[in-house]
Amino acid sequence: MMTVLPFQKTGVVVFLGGMLLVGNSVAAGLDLQNGAEVYGETCVACHGENGKGEIPGVPDFTSKDGPLSKSDEILIRNVTNGFISPGAVMEMPALGGNPDLTQQDVKDVIAYLRKTFQK
Ligand code: HEC
Repeated sequence: MMTVLPFQKTGVVVFLGGMLLVGNSVAAGLDLQNGAEVYGETCVACHGENGKGEIPGVPDFTSKDGPLSKSDEILIRNVTNGFISPGAVMEMPALGGNPDLTQQDVKDVIAYLRKTFQK
């Protein structure tokens, strides 16, 4: 009989856990890794590593009733087209100012925002 060492069991659990996470994202057609890359390349300069906003006028993603309380549909539209709320000091540029971003990139980065910053 083969001896199963404790670390082997842990390995199996970690592996299965990883598969579940990947499975969920794939089921929804979302790639969180891509979302993280898009955020790091295009969004972080204004929105910050911690999602709280680097510049005055940039909203706090971690705030409970902040932007992430809106639906995906609205967020996708506002990130894609850009927007400015009434009286705001600064606008959100269309696609964060990066015309190379695809609709998939936008969906992925919003999924990443929710996973990383939403309270
Ligand atoms: C030049 C700075 C800048 C960059 C770059 C930028 N944003 Fe923004 N973003 C803003 C500002 C400013 C607002 C708030 C605008 C307002 O409320 O009028 C905002 C708002 C948002 C919102 C809230 C939308 C809503 O409906 O309330 C989301 C989501 C968002 N940004 C995502 C992103 C993503 C994703 C990227 C990268 C692809 C990005 N931003 C890049 C400045 C920026």
